[in-house]
Amino acid sequence: MKRIVFATNNAHKLAEVKAVLGNDFELVTLKEVGITEDIPETGETLDENASIKARYVYERTGLDCFADDTGLEVVALGGAPGVHSARYATDGHDFAANNAKLLREMEGKTDRRARFRTVISLIRSGVEEQVEGIVEGHIATTMSGSEGFGYDPLFIPEGYDISFAEMSADQKNAISHRGRAVEALKGVIKR
Ligand code: IMP
Repeated sequence: MKRIVFATNNAHKLAEVKAVLGNDFELVTLKEVGITEDIPETGETLDENASIKARYVYERTGLDCFADDTGLEVVALGGAPGVHSARYATDGHDFAANNAKLLREMEGKTDRRARFRTVISLIRSGVEEQVEGIVEGHIATTMSGSEGFGYDPLFIPEGYDISFAEMSADQKNAISHRGRAVEALKGVIKR
């Protein structure tokens, strides 16, 4: 089995990515390679941040690795929260506060179109490649569901009338930004 470091300590993400990548790969977390500090995400785009995180891990471990960065891009908010999705309302990763702020910002807006975009940077033997995954949808007017994390209770994917937080992990993975980005990653890794 091929070992590869996934630059995360988020158990939700790890489970989602494992489910899509399958059993051909042994995913190793940051903690398992001794990186316990938060990797600085100083980029101004998702692409830059994914790259910064992957390079940080590669420089310290020399191991094949990948890092992802995801943002929710809302049309009526000019693409916000975008690269600032994790720290939209506060400095921490406060999902409840972020969702409350998003609902406030969207009050009275009729155009509720939004998309999730995930960029993954993969580094193998020092060579970096990027893939992305996108899911289109819209922002609901109230929260629903208790699965998943982050903005899931407010995001209704195109073609559905339930939120990501009302879907099973398998259902979400099959259509999500991260699921699609990881499918693309799988294609690259298997080459
Ligand atoms: P990250 O780059 O994957 O850490 O994502 C940044 C932020 O985007 C997270 O803190 C979440 O608020 C949000 N986010 C990322 N992925 C998802 C998802 O699958 N569902 C809902 N929110 C997400």
